[in-house]
Amino acid sequence: MDLMTNIEEVQLGAQGPSVGRIGLGGMGMSGGYGHADEQESVATVHAALDAGVNLVDTGDFYGMGHNEMLIGRALADRKREDYLLSVKFGALRGPDNSWGGTDARPVAVRNFLAYSLQRLGVDHIDIYRPARLDPNVPIEDTVGAIAEMVQAGYVRYIGLSEVGAETLRRAAAVHPIADLQIEYSLISRGIEDSILPTARELGTSVTAYGVLSRGLLSDSLRGNRTFGAGDFRSFSPRFQGENLAANLRLVDALAAIADAHGTSVAQLAIAWVLAQGRDIVPVIGARTRTRLTEAVDAVAITLSPEELAAIEAAVPADQVAGDRYAPAQMAMLDSES
Ligand SMILES: NC(=O)c1ccc[n+]([C@@H]2O[C@H](COP(=O)([O-])OP(=O)(O)OC[C@H]3O[C@@H](n4cnc5c(N)ncnc54)[C@H](OP(=O)(O)O)[C@@H]3O)[C@@H](O)[C@H]2O)c1
Repeated sequence: MDLMTNIEEVQLGAQGPSVGRIGLGGMGMSGGYGHADEQESVATVHAALDAGVNLVDTGDFYGMGHNEMLIGRALADRKREDYLLSVKFGALRGPDNSWGGTDARPVAVRNFLAYSLQRLGVDHIDIYRPARLDPNVPIEDTVGAIAEMVQAGYVRYIGLSEVGAETLRRAAAVHPIADLQIEYSLISRGIEDSILPTARELGTSVTAYGVLSRGLLSDSLRGNRTFGAGDFRSFSPRFQGENLAANLRLVDALAAIADAHGTSVAQLAIAWVLAQGRDIVPVIGARTRTRLTEAVDAVAITLSPEELAAIEAAVPADQVAGDRYAPAQMAMLDSES
């Protein structure tokens, strides 16, 4: 396995840290897409750092602490300055794996942060962010509480997740926002109208997730269309019946371009997002070293304007079937309101 390349770095936000051109997301390592091999997950985190992927994203609710403990173990023997931890908080869970809304009250911020520091085994978190806007708490209060933790040295930078332009603007008036983590891919282009221009105006980068649309934009689903009960895709509208069939036809069109270009579909999907600007950092949900290598190698791909146009023509936004989340989860997205 060749992971000798060190990818280039970009600055996150006008005042944020320097990060590798792609980041690594940990959600899939804690059951988001079915079973994950723990040893391979740790090896993937190590391989990411060795390749220059220094931004590692997690959430305290991924596997109810499992993901933070896994990442904490994986990074224990690494120098603290060699990696950046992005941590989401606020999503409430139940013992039966259910979801129970969002708590981003200032008192909850301090509580969640204390537990995350302990599970990760670190004395500070690099970028701390509420996973969703808490509809009962003004964003100024949540960001103000994190800013106090920045002052106290427990957090370095503040980020947001899945908020709309207006919320981002209000938050940035309280404290600089290094990055907005939000879904962005060839088939989820909703941020282009107002969220991305606002982020750019405010000096906030985008850390894009779902760049592979949870595996849809890759070769991995073309032969396998069944998902286990705990797998996000078992209830995501884009992965159901006719919707999935329609979306896989778009992937077939993309695969023809990928073949001609000598890349995989996943690499083309990553390269397309990378081409949208140096202020957009794809956070890839790789959970094996093989997938990670594929993603890292995509950083070197350059697409011409003609190739970008052909890729977009192969996946017209209006032909994508199904919302990116089920209705209850869509209702929690400030970015979609
Ligand atoms: N802020 C938010 O609301 C939010 C929401 C979701 C996720 N996130 C973060 O963003 C990260 C990435 O998002 P995502 O999980 O939605 O993932 P994604 O990167 O769109 O999709 C991951 C899926 O793609 C498949 N895949 C195929 N080829 C791949 C390749 N070369 N590299 C990596 N994966 C490949 C993987 O399948 P196999 O593993 O089966 O090969 C995996 O199931 C998460 O881990 C999490 O940290 C944030």
